[in-house]
Amino acid sequence: MATIDLNPEVEDYFVKLTLEDIQERGGIADLFEEGRLILLRRYRLPFDYKAIARLSNSLDKVKDRVLKKKLKKLTSLHFFEGEPPVRRNDTLIFSDRVRQAMFDVICRGDIDRFERASTALRAAHEEALRLFGICFPDYQPFRLEASVRLSRTLFENLHWDNHSIDDDFHQARIFANLDTRPRIWSVGEQFPTWVRNHYDEYDLGRFAGRDPNEMLQFITSDVLGGTRKTWMDHEPRHRVAFDPGEVWIGESRLISHQINYGDAALVYMWFVTPESMANKDNRFNARVDQIHREMADRVAA
Ligand SMILES: [Fe+2]
Repeated sequence: MATIDLNPEVEDYFVKLTLEDIQERGGIADLFEEGRLILLRRYRLPFDYKAIARLSNSLDKVKDRVLKKKLKKLTSLHFFEGEPPVRRNDTLIFSDRVRQAMFDVICRGDIDRFERASTALRAAHEEALRLFGICFPDYQPFRLEASVRLSRTLFENLHWDNHSIDDDFHQARIFANLDTRPRIWSVGEQFPTWVRNHYDEYDLGRFAGRDPNEMLQFITSDVLGGTRKTWMDHEPRHRVAFDPGEVWIGESRLISHQINYGDAALVYMWFVTPESMANKDNRFNARVDQIHREMADRVAA
């Protein structure tokens, strides 16, 4: 179970449930949509950790920035789906450029390393789909971003995720630590709380009716410092160390977060139709609109 250092200035929004608890209550859509961070109690992802430990966690050799970005947030499907590679002189040739770089750099050009990682990630993928079904039995997903993070992440800035898409969708997110060491995060205020508390200070009313990502961008970058002034903000936050194999579930546009250290993780994101939510009004865009309305009414009153 995760080690949590609670900050009394931030709401304690952690919920710890076993898979059996979740099954019994018919899922966690309601808790998730409220912006709670759900931790799976007495659960550890069954996983071949050695398969990942043998991979390279550095992308320093990759000079192409676009390629590097794709390797950093690699789709796990690249390990076990798509056109099979051709074996030639003890190496593998892939028709896809990203998959080739994944083999050459991350798997160090080693067929055995690649095959073992493929088997491990396929099993983890199946398990993530099973967990999604238990946690969100009514959700209707229309797209899945099955991301596996294999390069080391250190000292992120505090942020809420910005998907740079203003479509009015809901997301469900499941995280799993694939490393044999803890994954260290900080988590802070929920987005609606932060916006309400700083609405006038930063004149956030000017973002009403606009793409919510514009306000998100302004807050994470201009106010909290973004990647230019990382760790210089003074926001209160809880500190969390997620155990190896631990699984946690949270809306990363609602919960501010910051990876302090992490080597390997599974980050699965499902795009979900708002109609299938426990409460459609809790989708991100609707919540942002609601805050703007609430603040405008306050002035009017
Ligand atoms: Fe993030």
